[in-house]
Amino acid sequence: MSLLEVQHVSQHFGSLVAVNDISMVVETGELRALIGPNGAGKTTFFNLISGFFKPTAGRIMLDGHDITGLAPHQRVALGMARTFQITEIFPELSLRENLRIPVELAYGLRLSPWLAPAANTRINERIDELIDMGGLAGNANRLVGELALGDQRATEIMMTLALKPRLLLLDEPTAGMGSHETYSTAILIRKLHRQQKLTIVLVEHDMRVIFNLADRITVLAEGAVLDEGAPDDIAASEKVQAAYLGKAA
Ligand SMILES: Nc1ncnc2c1ncn2[C@@H]1O[C@H](COP(=O)(O)OP(=O)(O)OP(=O)(O)O)[C@@H](O)[C@H]1O
Ligand SMILES: [Mg+2]
Repeated sequence: MSLLEVQHVSQHFGSLVAVNDISMVVETGELRALIGPNGAGKTTFFNLISGFFKPTAGRIMLDGHDITGLAPHQRVALGMARTFQITEIFPELSLRENLRIPVELAYGLRLSPWLAPAANTRINERIDELIDMGGLAGNANRLVGELALGDQRATEIMMTLALKPRLLLLDEPTAGMGSHETYSTAILIRKLHRQQKLTIVLVEHDMRVIFNLADRITVLAEGAVLDEGAPDDIAASEKVQAAYLGKAA
């Protein structure tokens, strides 16, 4: 059974059709890239998958269960996590404090008035593990607002991983980054995909990142699927080239 199955979803904003009858199937363990020109509907499509919008039409299935009517937090409880196009962290808190929030949530201990020493140890160990996994050692006690953009993005990704998702949705994780940070973010995504066996759907503009990471690529244009296939097929697709060149011209 496929992990995620999107069936004929549409999203209208008044007379604008931002997502027009999109279907997409993502298998467990896959790293899928979602690409397309600005305004193609990628973020809107993510908002539909993660439950921030209710689709005007269509169904969304996770593990074969219809989740179309579920709220975002209910989807998180079923193993879906996402990051946003603009980094969502608490800049005035340290890296440890940022990670503590989702780790306590994951253990059902958020806002407990008192933590047993054993629970506190378990939380701290999990925070350390996430800091290591994210390549963030050395930054643990620094304010996140003072970290480089790549490390802030890694913090945000590790915050979502604290919830132990099976499906991770990343909206432009390298947005605003230079080539060095883009490279290290791509390495982190690949590592999480391979080591944690995470299924990932990634919206990305950087073609080198996409062609290095993706198992399959879905191309959106004007709210619809223009093409889908392995990276080599998409690179050779005349339809895709025309869509991008058409925008650039
Ligand atoms: N909440 C909203 N209300 C009205 N229109 C919206 C809303 N969100 C998005 N749109 C419109 O829907 C279309 C698709 O936008 P979307 O943000 O999904 O594109 P995108 O592919 O993510 O673009 P980008 O690459 O610039 O991030 C655009 O025309 C946008 O203006
Ligand atoms: Mg977007």
